[in-house]
Amino acid sequence: MKPVRKAIIPAAGLGTRFLPATKALAKEMLPIVDKPTIQFIVEEAIASGIEDIVIVDGKSKRSIEDHFDSNPELENNLKEKNKDEMLKLVQETTDINLYFIRQSHPNGLGDAVLTAKAFIGDEPFVVLLGDDLMQDKTPLTKQLIDRYNETGESTLAVMRVPHEQVSEYGVIDPATQITEDGLYRVKNFVEKPKPEDAPSDLAIIGRYLLTPEIFEELEKTKPGKGNEIQLTDAIDSLNNRQHVYAHEFKGDRYDIGSKIGFLETNIEFGLKHPQTKDKLRAYIKELASKL
Ligand code: UTP
Repeated sequence: MKPVRKAIIPAAGLGTRFLPATKALAKEMLPIVDKPTIQFIVEEAIASGIEDIVIVDGKSKRSIEDHFDSNPELENNLKEKNKDEMLKLVQETTDINLYFIRQSHPNGLGDAVLTAKAFIGDEPFVVLLGDDLMQDKTPLTKQLIDRYNETGESTLAVMRVPHEQVSEYGVIDPATQITEDGLYRVKNFVEKPKPEDAPSDLAIIGRYLLTPEIFEELEKTKPGKGNEIQLTDAIDSLNNRQHVYAHEFKGDRYDIGSKIGFLETNIEFGLKHPQTKDKLRAYIKELASKL
């Protein structure tokens, strides 16, 4: 069995929920306190043992490449001023095996993953979406890799969501629960069902471990919901020839793809950040007393 060494981070979406901010700026560069969201995602992949990461980007995404590149002018300036801590922060994003591929048209998440086919080759890999920040003792991507090492099959991360919200997600129709700690065999995957049609409240969240056979399915997948090539549809077809499992995540998930989730996450992380936590707590208390 080949080890899981590679990751795809799709980042070619248009980010319409954050317009006008995302007209010229990549959504993935919006910060949580002081760190661009995509850096959290890259850090999760590395903490999970991933060696090579490909970011699928689109137009207006140059800033992502620049963020992970060196910046000699800035670094020299910080060196001259003995700002060692800041220099460390700037340099820690440059020493990563990162690759970039362009998705010419935003034809959907499935199409973005297919763009990375040549990079992945004949190996199992993970897909990490930037809209979800995950926190747990073991990184979620590592949890999926551990599952793969037991089963040798594709495994998606799922999480229970309130029933009325299922239409925002891909949802699984679980066949059997394999282990008590939340591993399921899956009958079907349904993209954005109406609550009354949803087979469960177990929603697919933004982490996938996939076998390379997914590319054959993606090549056959016709545009689905929203006229986009849906990764969920290809996974549903893959499930007809290989088992696809779902792993229930029980840690903390921050939905930073929506405006409200993004604001909430900034507040929560700001309350933990050493440079902002005390002042922010005092400010929130004062503000709350006026609401
Ligand atoms: P979303 O559905 O969240 O779309 O994509 P989006 O464009 O990022 O954001 P909104 O909804 O317009 O605000 C889910 C993930 O798939 C990627 C996105 O970058 C995001 O990480 N994606 C989506 C692509 O890479 N290419 C696409 O064609 C579509």
